[in-house]
Amino acid sequence: MTRAHNFCAGPAALPRAVLERAKAELLDWSDSGSSVMEVSHRSPAFVSVAEQAEASLRRLLSISDDYAVLFLQGGASLQFAAVPLNLSVAGQAIDQVITGQWSKKAHAEGQRFGSVNVAATSEDTGFTTVPPQQAWQLDPSAAYLHYCPNETIGGLEFDFVPQVEVPLVADMSSTILSRPIDVNRYGVIYAGAQKNIGPAGLCLVIVDRELLGRARPETPAMLNWQIAADNDSMYNTPPTFALYLAGLVFEWLENLGGLGEMETINRRKASKLYHTIDDSDFYSNPVERISRSLMNVPFTLADAALDSVFLQEAETARLLNLKGHRSVGGMRASLYNAVEESSVDALCDFMQDFEQRHG
Ligand SMILES: Cc1ncc(COP(=O)(O)O)c(C=O)c1O
Repeated sequence: MTRAHNFCAGPAALPRAVLERAKAELLDWSDSGSSVMEVSHRSPAFVSVAEQAEASLRRLLSISDDYAVLFLQGGASLQFAAVPLNLSVAGQAIDQVITGQWSKKAHAEGQRFGSVNVAATSEDTGFTTVPPQQAWQLDPSAAYLHYCPNETIGGLEFDFVPQVEVPLVADMSSTILSRPIDVNRYGVIYAGAQKNIGPAGLCLVIVDRELLGRARPETPAMLNWQIAADNDSMYNTPPTFALYLAGLVFEWLENLGGLGEMETINRRKASKLYHTIDDSDFYSNPVERISRSLMNVPFTLADAALDSVFLQEAETARLLNLKGHRSVGGMRASLYNAVEESSVDALCDFMQDFEQRHG
């Protein structure tokens, strides 16, 4: 059986080696006579899975003990609410930068819990630019600043880490683990798992321990980071299979050589696709070059009437999930870690061939 070339924005492709390992272990995991989904999350064997996953992630991202690593549920979207509940008091100012659909959603949720100051937005350019930090209007009394370093839908990525006096909170759902980062520059990093971490159902939160213990009294226990940290992310039953699989993904990344190596591969993949787009008059990408995403590459065809033909022919060639998000249209190829370079080559070849036949 050959696997298709999968460019889904999420849930995204998983490394083949990880899936094969999970398949081999499915019925009899670790000589337990049952699958990993059928053992208690409190059993020493499973606790060790969780501990190893955390240790591996800490090595990959060089996360110090000053930070708690939490594996939570509810996806990144639940953190849109958890962030203000854990970091601000009712009515307090919150700074947010809006650069696309996801930071917009975080903004809408933030408004339920605080007095949001939009420090900057690039809506006027159709979210094709990142507002330069010199132009941001920060609120000096803000509890924190929230931004989204990589907008999955628009394919817009910050080429800098904001420098602010308050805790910096980043929704890294679609960029985490694509390259090394300096965790120490952030107060909180969170990410839904279903792109570069593992299956959906898990959300990673990396939080400076100094920011724990500030949750509002009414914060539900399941949203309180301090409670999660005190209980090693097992205040209730965690999504055990997702956590196990995330651990395998982290191990796969370590075996590959770590995030420096992953970045080299990712840059090569993205560069091939952007070149294919830029070298043609048939395809285009609207994002200003310096802010183009390494992970999510939207592109349009010169004639939108050909969109459905493109998608149909792509599917026949086993190039899947290339339809752009319903809010922007066109195409989008997500090039997460598990998307192999040979898949990007196949896509570029297909695009060039399609242009010759239809351009
Ligand atoms: C940048 C970003 N933030 C948040 C989300 C929402 O994640 P979830 O579906 O895990 O709530 C997504 C989902 O694609 C995303 O790409």
